[in-house]
Amino acid sequence: MKNFNLAVLASGSGTNLQAIIDAIKKKKLRARIKIVISNNSDAYALKRGQRNKIKTLHLSQKRFASPKEFDHKLVSILKKEKIDLIALAGYMKKLSPSVVRKFRNKIINIHPALLPRFGGKGMYGIHVHEAVLKSKAKTSGVSVHLVDEKYDHGSIIFQKEIPVRDSETAESLQKRVLKIEHQVYPYVIGLFAQNKILIKGRKVYIKNSGR
Ligand code: GRF
Repeated sequence: MKNFNLAVLASGSGTNLQAIIDAIKKKKLRARIKIVISNNSDAYALKRGQRNKIKTLHLSQKRFASPKEFDHKLVSILKKEKIDLIALAGYMKKLSPSVVRKFRNKIINIHPALLPRFGGKGMYGIHVHEAVLKSKAKTSGVSVHLVDEKYDHGSIIFQKEIPVRDSETAESLQKRVLKIEHQVYPYVIGLFAQNKILIKGRKVYIKNSGR
C-alpha cells in the first residue's frame, strides 16, 4: 500500500503533533509524517519532531525577500516530500491564497471550539475559551475543517461537542478541549488516509465511518 504522507505545521508546543506521532506509533493511524515545519524557531513542536527522528524545518517568512518567495519555498518543499495532507496544528501563520490554491482540499486545521462560532482572526489560544464562557454557551468542543483563504472558514469535516460545566474556567475548558483534540485529529487524519473523505463543493462527507 502507498504511504500516506503528512506534513504537520505547528508554531507552539505541539501536543497535537505528539498525538499524531503516538497514533502512528501505536498503528492506530497509517500515515507517515514526512516533515514538521514551524515559523517559530523556538517551537517545542520542532523538538518533538527531532526526538522522533522526523525531518524538521524552521521556515520563517522574515527570512525571505518577499511573501512570494516564502510561498515558493514552502510549496516546493511540500511537493518534493510528496505530501498528501497538510495538517495545521497550532500554526499561527495564515497560509497565503496561492499556497491554499495549490493544495486545495489537502490542508486541514484543528480549532478548539465549535465553528462557525468562536473562530476567525484573534480567536486562538485562551481567547477562544474566554469567548465561549462569555457567551454562556452550554457546549464547546473541537472542529476539524478544510483550510481555505479565510481564517477558520473552510468546510467543517468533523466536530466533537463537550458540555461546558458550571464551574468552568477558560483554563479548565482549554485543558478538556485539548484532550479531545488529541483523539479527534489522528482520527480525522486517518479518514483521509483511508480515503473516506468525500468533498463535493462546500460539503464534506465521511464515507461509512461507523461513528
Ligand atoms: C490547539 O488548541 C489547536 O486547536 C489550535 O492551537 C492549539 C495547538 O496546541 N489550533 P498544540 O501546539 O498542539 O499543543
